[in-house]
Amino acid sequence: MPTILAIESSCDETAAAVCRDSNILSNVIFSQKIHEQYGGVVPELASRAHLQSIVTVVDAALKDASVSLDEIDAFAFTQSPGLLGALLVGAGFAKSLALSFNKPLIAVHHMQAHVLANLIPTTSPNNLTGFPFLCLTVSGGHTQIVLCTDYLKMKVIGQTLDDAAGEAFDKSAKILGLPYPGGPLIDKYAKDGDARKYSFPEPKIDGLNFSFSGLKTAILYFVRNEKIKNANFVEENLHDICASIQSRIVSILLNKLKKAANQFGINEICIAGGVSANSGLRMAFETMGKKEGWKTHIPAFEYCTDNAAMIAITAYYKFLEKKFEDYSVVPSARMNIEVW
Ligand code: KG4
Ligand code: ZN
Repeated sequence: MPTILAIESSCDETAAAVCRDSNILSNVIFSQKIHEQYGGVVPELASRAHLQSIVTVVDAALKDASVSLDEIDAFAFTQSPGLLGALLVGAGFAKSLALSFNKPLIAVHHMQAHVLANLIPTTSPNNLTGFPFLCLTVSGGHTQIVLCTDYLKMKVIGQTLDDAAGEAFDKSAKILGLPYPGGPLIDKYAKDGDARKYSFPEPKIDGLNFSFSGLKTAILYFVRNEKIKNANFVEENLHDICASIQSRIVSILLNKLKKAANQFGINEICIAGGVSANSGLRMAFETMGKKEGWKTHIPAFEYCTDNAAMIAITAYYKFLEKKFEDYSVVPSARMNIEVW
């Protein structure tokens, strides 16, 4: 019954969680607000903010779990991918704890953790149980379709050739003059908009890969042209524009997911990552799942965007397989591996 403390610091959330077996005892997330004014994450500011808040966040995770440091059996951290300076803070902190308490150190791949967020036990009845499954992992930095054949055996079978789905949301939002991160705002405004009002192109990309850069350019020119005719175009039509953009991003994602499910003959399907918090995607995914006869799984809302609970659950499965690191392990900004 291992108790694990996990730290996530790959981007702009400082997060810590404690799990006992696969049960999450605490999940604390500090979202750095400093980046809003810059329209995107500033790496140096992210590292500094992680340094300033990591002690408080870890302390809160231990207190929420009613667990003391000497009860921890292993310390886990996000190794990659992410911002190097930000990753170093979490890695350094976890290493120091592991060294001081003479306990194993576990390095976790952030994208693998997003997928395994689907394995966190929740009260929802459709918890994922079987392998193989497919997971559409959609975040601010990645868009992947992952074939998962065991807890730690994953293969990327499709991915974006340019922008990630989260970037498509955030960059579209920026074109509309909305602050960073724009994804949740597009979601909010889309709720009472007409998704059929404006039509944006679906890229023709072979196989299971994605591309979002053409969509971004199409939105940029569309908005620019409409603003020449009416300077208040965006303000007057914000809800319909957001609904139309969201509906196109969602259809690009789900059409490829359907193709993957058919190609691999798999009907156990998950979504994960920050964009899986999108209400339009969640709804359309469930609708497609019913039509296609899928068993659909979506992580609880708090486990979609970056969090340390997903790092903890991945670390738990690594603990069972004794996948430990020595103290020389270093984080890496990119990890271009296709198979975990
Ligand atoms: O997984 P995540 O928290 O961080 C990364 O690993 O990148 O994903 C962040 C991304 C951002 O692009 C953010 O705009 C997007 O997820 N996002 C959303 C929503 N909530 C977060 N996009 C659309 N609708 C949402 N509700
Ligand atoms: Zn993430």
